[in-house]
Amino acid sequence: MVSLNEIVSKFFAIGSVLDSLPFGPWIMRHQVKNFSEAMKPVVKIVDRHIKEHLVHCKEEDDVRDVADAIALAAIQTPADVKQQLGLTDDQIRFIAIDLFGGGFVTATDSFRWAINLLAAFPDVQERARRELAEVCGDHQLQLADRSNIPYNEAVLLEVFRFSSLVTLSLPHSTMEDTTLRGYFIPKGTTIFSNLFAHHYNPQYFPDPDSFKPDRFLTADGKLDADKAQLVIPFGVGKRRCVGENFARQELSLLIGRLLQQFEIRQDPSNPVNVYDTVPGLNRGPVQTPLIFKKIVL
Ligand code: HEM
Repeated sequence: MVSLNEIVSKFFAIGSVLDSLPFGPWIMRHQVKNFSEAMKPVVKIVDRHIKEHLVHCKEEDDVRDVADAIALAAIQTPADVKQQLGLTDDQIRFIAIDLFGGGFVTATDSFRWAINLLAAFPDVQERARRELAEVCGDHQLQLADRSNIPYNEAVLLEVFRFSSLVTLSLPHSTMEDTTLRGYFIPKGTTIFSNLFAHHYNPQYFPDPDSFKPDRFLTADGKLDADKAQLVIPFGVGKRRCVGENFARQELSLLIGRLLQQFEIRQDPSNPVNVYDTVPGLNRGPVQTPLIFKKIVL
């Protein structure tokens, strides 16, 4: 899994070239081949799961999760309708693979950004841990606690803003000729939304280069909902990330539980540089060895 993550990260690092140049896939053919090879085990795992879900859906008349819904769509959609829609079984299978792929590097890289930033800013880390101790006592952080930990939620928002991981979101295409702020954009133009530029716009986020979770808190220490909604790491509109809610919950729990159990420190001989990134379609976090000290209560 770790090496697959590396390959996928590297592939995303060249993704913008592939997306913006029609001949990109040809120039990058070796990377494309390596990526396809690396994805084979993932395709196998997804296939196995889809088969299990197909059996379940044929035997029981219920839908337990997304994979069941996909399997059911594959069974119930008549062959002629599928053909009419241009929907092949492979495409149905790749919807499941997209969910796997979409949530893989994004979540792990966001988590890596979070631990790098917490190591680089020990005061932030300590304050987040203190809040968790006050709210959770000796129980592990639960999703239900999230509304009572505004500082930790502000830290997560600031991690999303500061990292702006999916820098240019995903490419979209104009369906018709249009004009935006005086610029004519013909039908079929590839469009990227620059999420990074938005997250570093001082009009919305003063002193944008500083990591300051406090910017999301009101004077009385509550989460400022208006400022929170200016953070858009999952894009906006109809095609925004389908995994958003899951990713927000997953990362809030992962980071909180890690802070409850470990102190994260930098290695003084190899400090973290949060202003350096691995460039590409994703602004990947630079991997620096960190020290995790178990907290003994
Ligand atoms: C911190 C984690 C994540 C970030 C920052 C992120 C970010 C994004 C962004 C910026 C987009 C493009 C939205 C657009 O086109 O306007 C996107 C699309 C997508 N994401 Fe995520 N994502 C994350 C986690 C996940 C997870 C956990 C899943 C799956 C469970 C997922 C699945 C997808 C899929 C399938 C799309 C394509 C949606 C479509 O085109 O309709 N993502 N994501």
